Amino acid sequence: MAASIHFLESARQFHLRNDQISYIFSVSEDGKLLHLYYGKALPERDYSHLIEMCSRPMTTYRKEGDFLYSLEHLKQEFPEYGTSDFRHPAIMIRQENGSKISDFRYMKHHIFKGKPTLDGLPATYVEDENESQTIVVTLRDELIKVEIDLHYTIFSDLPVISRHIEVRNLSLDTHYIQQIASLNLDLPDANYEWLQLSGAWARERYIKTRTLSQGIQSIESTRGISSPHHNPFVALKRKETTEHQGEVIGVTFVYSGNFLIQAEVDTWDTTRLQVGINTFHFEWKLAPNDQFISPEALLVFSDKGLNGMSQSFHQLFRTRLARGFWKEKKRPVLINNWEATYFDFTEEKLLTIARTAKQVGVELFVLDDGWFGERINDRAGLGDWYVNPDRLPEGIGHLAKQIREIGLQFGLWFEPEMVNKDSQLFREHPDWHIHTPNRPVCHGRNQYVLNFTSDQVIEHIFQKMSAIIEEAKLDYIKWDMNRTLTEVYSCELPADQQGEVFHRYVLGVYKLYERLTSTYPNILFESCSSGGGRFDPGLLFYAPQAWTSDDSDAIERLKIQYGTSLLYPVSSMGAHVSIVPNHQLNRITPLKTRANVAYFGAFGYELDLNQLDPQELEEVSQQISFYKQYRELLHSGSFYRLLSPFESQETAWMVVSKDKKIAILAHYKMLNQVNHPFRRLKLQGLNPNAIYQIDQHDYSGAELMQAGFSITDASSGEHNNQSPLPPTYDFDSRIWVIQQK
Ligand code: DGJ
Repeated sequence: MAASIHFLESARQFHLRNDQISYIFSVSEDGKLLHLYYGKALPERDYSHLIEMCSRPMTTYRKEGDFLYSLEHLKQEFPEYGTSDFRHPAIMIRQENGSKISDFRYMKHHIFKGKPTLDGLPATYVEDENESQTIVVTLRDELIKVEIDLHYTIFSDLPVISRHIEVRNLSLDTHYIQQIASLNLDLPDANYEWLQLSGAWARERYIKTRTLSQGIQSIESTRGISSPHHNPFVALKRKETTEHQGEVIGVTFVYSGNFLIQAEVDTWDTTRLQVGINTFHFEWKLAPNDQFISPEALLVFSDKGLNGMSQSFHQLFRTRLARGFWKEKKRPVLINNWEATYFDFTEEKLLTIARTAKQVGVELFVLDDGWFGERINDRAGLGDWYVNPDRLPEGIGHLAKQIREIGLQFGLWFEPEMVNKDSQLFREHPDWHIHTPNRPVCHGRNQYVLNFTSDQVIEHIFQKMSAIIEEAKLDYIKWDMNRTLTEVYSCELPADQQGEVFHRYVLGVYKLYERLTSTYPNILFESCSSGGGRFDPGLLFYAPQAWTSDDSDAIERLKIQYGTSLLYPVSSMGAHVSIVPNHQLNRITPLKTRANVAYFGAFGYELDLNQLDPQELEEVSQQISFYKQYRELLHSGSFYRLLSPFESQETAWMVVSKDKKIAILAHYKMLNQVNHPFRRLKLQGLNPNAIYQIDQHDYSGAELMQAGFSITDASSGEHNNQSPLPPTYDFDSRIWVIQQK
């Protein structure tokens, strides 16, 4: 069914609906938007009775003589502070007289097919106007002459609603936006568990849950990037919800900077969920005739558990957020030299790695950090985007040509937003980095952040990158970002616009991404921020894959990739096989397991293949053939999480093709278990009526999903040769191809 947005005039009620979900709100007598329902699809009817009101002591009311209509008790779409609601508002505007009270009332609405783009911001999109319906509800505060457009788009085939807000100043006064939530969702109860993806460098996106309770729970970033500490995503799930059953609401933010996601539970157990730019250090000047566009928030409802929610996000991100040539193309198997050489390489060393890589089936060679300026370590060179003549005496074009002659595509690492003090760029433009006048500036990894609020800076970096891209005819770019923002200030902006710097910085990053991706549409971009420090929906709009984590240890990656998969598709997660002992943990894992984990990502290698023995090289060659055979399935199939590394010493997941004819199942052990019980895995997503073959045995889809598939092995501690089952060990793993007969 197509999406529909119906306006029931008699009740001034809007019903956004598709096969899977309904979202209902109405206009009150005094023009406020009241929220009625969000969840599984409901029939078209009048739902006015869902507006509940009663008299409560210590309450304030809107109308003289009336003891019912208080915004404190009502569920709202766009709450404000100061007019009887005491929960956090969705908007706060400081006016010329110092007041922050506003009173926005319904003015008009407009319903249309399709989905408009957001100027200068990443957002989901449609390719055909029948894929979605949009409603724009315009509110107006008559006193301050400010209008607000609330945008809602409902997709036809996905349980997804996108939201953002546009604010226009039609007065002759200057106003300042201090708070603007792209999404406000008031829910009628608080019986939820809050699930977030949090961590730090090298342990990004671990799953953490807690029970909602009265008060505010939130995650945020104050670092200028979305950050490895908290991903801009929260799921509210019912206590009984599992991976495969039960209700869950997922929200995320298509944004790469400071965000805030919070749930406020009030004393009557209603929940107010908000997603937006962090109010911390934010104030946006709205001069007469100015307009402000908030980034997009996304809302997904699932009654098929967390997996159901993830699959909706995956499909949306893969097909209607990622763009361009590469979004659904087969990703090349790459080799990256970072963990192979770090800064210690010569042209010949790179070529030796490339030659061996070609022999085993690699398709793309990526030269990481250290090829430019005076960059022989991390103390110098950032900002100088011209080749280091000592390293590559015949230029980057020459190296690229040789790599191509070997038969590989060629890609390069850049860190466009940064500068080292020891660089030509810094010497020429000592004022181009973000700093506060007369105060010292903190460094991170010896580097400083360029002022991307400045068009001049962005233009300079574009020109330099462009020259290299054209000289080397790049096929791929890894865009890294290795420090967070401090002493945030822009010397180009007046005092009353310093609260805009964080957001303008992000807009600058998007501007350069947009310019590069539109000028060079065939280049595959991979975003990176010390691993997964800026792995967010905003950057997926420009770069369809991201380096998931600097932690390349296969066992650590189970948690990282499992957590990441809550929101992001397999195709977006850069995942490489690296050397052992692993460089982050000194752990030794089997080559087989390293590949079995990395297959569930944008697959590659990050080691000097010449250090492997012939038998290992043969294994690598087989791994690459396996990946090439199944990469389309791995990237476009439905991904199911089966066993969580956060709950046991095992992990399992699978992907199933759209037609359910083929699937790949993977099972990983962290620590082996002695004398363990017989174990079965209940598979998901297969056709119950079909017969599937696994390891030459036939099973019905129904059996595999209901009785389960045996993953018992022989690690019982008993040393005899009679077990028919394969022995296993710590860090072991197995992969099965499940083929319909
Ligand atoms: C951090 C990245 O995450 C690594 O993969 C590598 O590119 C280094 N930066 C290079 O400095």
